[in-house]
Order: sequence, then C-alpha cells, then structure tokens
Amino acid sequence: MSQLQLEILQLLDKEGEIPNSLNNSQLSKINPNELHANLSSLWSREMIKFNKIETDHWILTKEAEDYLKAGATPEIQVVDEVLKAQLEGLTLNDLKTKLGSTGIIGQGKAFKNKWLKKDGNKLIAEVKELPKDEVLIDLKEIQKTGKLSNKSILTELKKRKLINLTKIIGYEIQKGDKFSLEIKNLETDITSDMIQNGNWKNSQFKDYNFNSFGIIPQSGALHPLMKVRQEFRDIFFAMGFTEMDSNQYVESGFWNFDTLFVPQQHPARDLQDTFYLKDPKVAKEPEDKEYWENVKQVHQDGKYESIGYRYPWKSEESLRMVLRTHTTAISAAMLKKLAENPKPTRLFSIDRVFRNEAVDATHLAEFHQVEGVIAGYDITLGDLIGFMDDFFGKMGVDNLRFKAAYNPYTEPSLEIFAYHKGLKKWVEIGNSGMFRPEMLETMGLPKNLRVLGWGLSLERPTMIKYGVSNIRELLGHKVSLDFIESNPAARLDELL
Ligand code: PHE
Repeated sequence: MSQLQLEILQLLDKEGEIPNSLNNSQLSKINPNELHANLSSLWSREMIKFNKIETDHWILTKEAEDYLKAGATPEIQVVDEVLKAQLEGLTLNDLKTKLGSTGIIGQGKAFKNKWLKKDGNKLIAEVKELPKDEVLIDLKEIQKTGKLSNKSILTELKKRKLINLTKIIGYEIQKGDKFSLEIKNLETDITSDMIQNGNWKNSQFKDYNFNSFGIIPQSGALHPLMKVRQEFRDIFFAMGFTEMDSNQYVESGFWNFDTLFVPQQHPARDLQDTFYLKDPKVAKEPEDKEYWENVKQVHQDGKYESIGYRYPWKSEESLRMVLRTHTTAISAAMLKKLAENPKPTRLFSIDRVFRNEAVDATHLAEFHQVEGVIAGYDITLGDLIGFMDDFFGKMGVDNLRFKAAYNPYTEPSLEIFAYHKGLKKWVEIGNSGMFRPEMLETMGLPKNLRVLGWGLSLERPTMIKYGVSNIRELLGHKVSLDFIESNPAARLDELL
C-alpha cells in the first residue's frame, strides 16, 4: 500500500467521509493524476467509493496581475491623475505621457463610469474624490479563491480579458464495503492449502471476469498438407479403399520403372529426372525370378500379345537404387501381390515422391502424391471417367474435362482438368489411365481383371486452398510456424 493510500484511509477513518479533496489541506496538494490512480486502486478493492467533482476556477490574466501589482485599475489611475491636476485639468496627451497606454484604456472606462467629462480638450473630474476600486477588489477575491458570487461581474471581467475559466478536479470520497486500514493482497485462485488452513475466510478474491476470453492453450497444430491429406483419406475410406503401406522412399529401378513397362532408355529414367543412390548403389535381385525374367521379356522381345519395346534390357539398370519418382512403384508391388489371390480391389496411398527438378516457386525436388488404383473385372475407360467424376465430386470439384495423354504403363491415359473459378481457367488436376495388359499379365493377374489408376499432387490443391503462391512456404525449412498454427482445417470444396 502506498503512503498516500494509507493517508486517504486514515482520513476517512477519522472524518467518516471527504466531501471534496480540494478542501482538504492534505489532499489538495497532491497531483490530481496521482490522486486518481491511488483512489482507483482502493476502489477496485471496494475499500472506498469516490466521485469526481469538477469545479469552475477563474484565474487572472497577465493584464489583471499587472493591475494588482500597480495597486489600481487604469480607470482609477486616470481619475487619480485628473484629480491631482485639479482645476487646470489634463489633456489626453498629458495623460499619455504620464501613464502610457494605461492612460488610454483608463480614460475610456472612466468616461463610461461618468467619473470624467470633457471640457474643450481638457479632461475634468466629475467626482470629488477617488472612487472605490471595485474591479481591483473583485480581482483580488478571484486571485484568492478562484471564484466570485456575482456572475455578471465575472462575465464583464472575462470580456475585459482580465480573467479566464479553468476547471479543477476534486474528489468526493466515502468508505467502501470492504473499508479497512490495511490492504490485503487479492487472491486469484482458491487453493487446497487455503481450504485446509482456513485462510480462505480472511482472504480477498479478485472478481471473476466472465467476459474475458482467457488464454488460448498452447497446443500442436497440423500442417496444412496433413489436413488436406486427411480429407483425401476420408474420401478414399468412404469409397471403400484400403491404404497401401507406402513408407519407403527407396526403390529399385525394377519396381519404380521396369514393372511399370517404362523402357530403360525412357527420359524419365535420366539423371536429370531421377535421383540415384550412391550407397547402396545396387538393389538385391528380385526374389521372384520368373517374374523378373517375364518383365525382361516383355520389354525386350514382347510377350502376352505385346510386341515389346525390342531393345537389349539390362539387369544392372533394373537393379539401380532410386528415390521413388512416384508412388505407382508401391501400387505395382501391391498389384503383383494381388495376383496371388486376384479379386476386385481398391487401394490408395498419399506419400512423398522425389524428382530431380529445377526448384522454383511451384516445383520442389520432393512432393506428395495422392494415388489410387482400382482392380475390377472387365472395367473400362468409362468406369475410369465415371469414377473420377465421383471422386473429385466428393471434393466439390465438378465438371471435369479429360484429355488423351501418354504414360508408358497406361493405355489409354487421360489427363484430368477442372475449371478453376479463381484463376478463371482449366487447370490440370490429375493424371490417370488403364494399366497396360503386358504389365498386369506379367504379374500373373487374370486377363479380365482390369486395373485403372490415377495420381495427383497433394501440394497443388493445398496451395490453392491456403492461398500459398510459393511452394517453399508450404514445404521445407522456410515454412513459418505461425502459418501452420493459424490455419484452420481445410475444406477442399471451396477450392475449385
Ligand atoms: N504415376 C503417375 C504420375 O506420377 C500417376 C498415375 C498413377 C497415372 C496411376 C496413371 C495411373 O503422375
């Protein structure tokens, strides 16, 4: 408790109340801001109640103070001079030499008061003796008390620019409900200790603020990519898909390319497009030697009614270790497994892939691929198109367009386009196709169990959704944690 607060409480204790702090010899000397702060703090503890009282307070101007110093108002000074000159009288010029500008001001007032009259160019007194200097008396009173009971005189003096009005602030102070001569610390929480030792009875508690929002607890946040991934997963699950186990970034050239009928001299297999591992450089030979041999034959000589690519297929190329360039390598392995017990199947994966690309605002050397495959008896391209309409429709993306494309492992292949309302143009949102028979039959799948598949990047819809124009703000070391923490869960249907 401050010394001042103690004084206020003691004054109240002694006098019961303080009607106006200005009239109190102790409190009137305190700086008003300081007084207010101390009163507020006592009030917040309900120890006192107080009201602000604003009072008019008149103060003298410099001119009025000069009159007080001179001991007379100009009009009295003028009459004094005129009386001293007696019957001879005074000219205006005489007055000017004696009193300067005060003479000019004074004679005007003196005429008005009928204390002087003019005789030719002389000033003659109308009064026998010096009148009482009422104005000076009033000014003295104002200087002392700041006020005057006669309002019209105040207006008159204000007009003469002898006084100005200010407001001064005092306080009416009374005891509050929790008045006491000592300040107890305000507790915020009741603790088990307080209950046990009974201290809660004598403690004072801060009031609850039910309007306060409280502190938002620190908590983890999902990366926007992970939120969008979850939306995709939900759609896949709702459509009867099973998630593939895709948590391996490294593949052999065999699974990443050869099983998918990507010829060994295909540009996608170039160093500029694919990251090859230095260590280990070479993959283990596939366990299923028959399958390995069949894949080779399909490429080199043709098999299963395919004429093949007809080039010398090299096992070394097939055993090179690569960072997978697509999750289709996982799909291939799963389809090969499906051949052990062929049946209609729906599989998906959403995981990271790597491509040796020049990095710019929309390309990184790694991104996430959303991929789905559907195996079904005698399914056709019509099923693929129908399914894509369903799948993207579930994300709120309607009105797809398809364009013939080329993938080594699908025939026919289709690029999928959707109309982007924001950009007002058709944007590519996926790549798809019917897997080639020479790929599926090599795996041992029955001829009429056809497989369709499609893939898209997770980053593209996420960037559109979150208004991110540079992919480096979404993935990698430049991502701001604020961005991740402040973004609400995404809904894809607002996208396109
Ligand atoms: N692998 C393709 C890509 O990377 C996607 C795809 C998957 C296409 C399955 C057809 C079938 O774009």
